Amino acid sequence: MKIELSENKVFFENNGSKKEIHPFWLRERVNGENYVDKSTKQRLFDPTELNGNVKIKNVSLSDKFLEIIFSDGIKTKLTIQSILNEFSNINEVKFIKKIRWDSSLSNLNNFKFNHNFFEEKIMYEALISFYKFGFVIFKKVPTEKNFIVKFANSIGSIRRTNFGEFFNVKSKPNPNDLAYTSLPLAPHTDNPYRNPVPCIQLLHCIENEVSGGYSTLVDGYTVTEKLKKDYPDYFKILTEIKVRYQFIDKDVVLEDWSEMIKLDENQNFKQVRFSPRLDFVPLMDKEKLNLYYAARNKISELYNSDKYRLEFKLTPGDLLMMDNYRLLHGRTSYDTNEGNRFLQGCYIDYDSTEGKLKHLKRKFNF
Ligand SMILES: [Fe+2]
Repeated sequence: MKIELSENKVFFENNGSKKEIHPFWLRERVNGENYVDKSTKQRLFDPTELNGNVKIKNVSLSDKFLEIIFSDGIKTKLTIQSILNEFSNINEVKFIKKIRWDSSLSNLNNFKFNHNFFEEKIMYEALISFYKFGFVIFKKVPTEKNFIVKFANSIGSIRRTNFGEFFNVKSKPNPNDLAYTSLPLAPHTDNPYRNPVPCIQLLHCIENEVSGGYSTLVDGYTVTEKLKKDYPDYFKILTEIKVRYQFIDKDVVLEDWSEMIKLDENQNFKQVRFSPRLDFVPLMDKEKLNLYYAARNKISELYNSDKYRLEFKLTPGDLLMMDNYRLLHGRTSYDTNEGNRFLQGCYIDYDSTEGKLKHLKRKFNF
């Protein structure tokens, strides 16, 4: 990638293709204290009030800088690097390559908590690990009640739902969700009926005295790739049919329609939703429904198979942070007579982890 000049025009060259950079694009990026706020990098002028036909009157290029005088008399000195950065995805978390895993994964991405670590390099490393594997486990997090809220708000901002700021996972009488029983929970994603679905779940173990109640995780990305390779028809229908997910209680009716496997604009993995107790496929031709049901059975079989399911015990002080768009989670059953099992959970969204990651990257100059 490089910048070139020709007859008062600026060109951007990448992989043999050369394109002119619009003069107004450069005019919008005029810097200096009269034009850009030093700390927020917000413009101190409104570009929609400028003449869009602005031209370049004079331009010079050196190794590090591009100096321009525009036809409206404004001068600026831009670093070449700042221009090149806008053409790369270096600031995107997409540069972190996902690592697929199955039940053979032995590294559980453990990071030890300390009270200052939200601003330390270890948090940067933990977040990178989170984006690679879809989860991390923080150890020795204080087991004070509701500490989860403080924790979540130290990474970003908690995502409040109709369950409140956080929720308590323990068996209770008359539960409005299976999570609040001692029954086993098959791998699922949380809250597929919300728009948008909460991106990340935090689960903090406060007490765990029972011998069962193991936590389970499945990499939805690994399973999706397996389905795509071995069962392309199933993969196709699950990426095409929009299913209705719903949650109903006495206060609210929540519904959202989505494909069970959602792909991004480049047809790559984006999100899975799986919660077969609350999904409703639309009425379609019998043949199409036959294929859909076979596909859902197959993906359920894969999600529930020993090959893909990681099983481990959360002990008091463990805080599991998992990507609810990529991973499925569940737990094995337990016996309430053996003692207490008490977890607290909450949600945050990607803007929290992305914002923190970019902040730490800037802070440590990574
Ligand atoms: Fe859940």
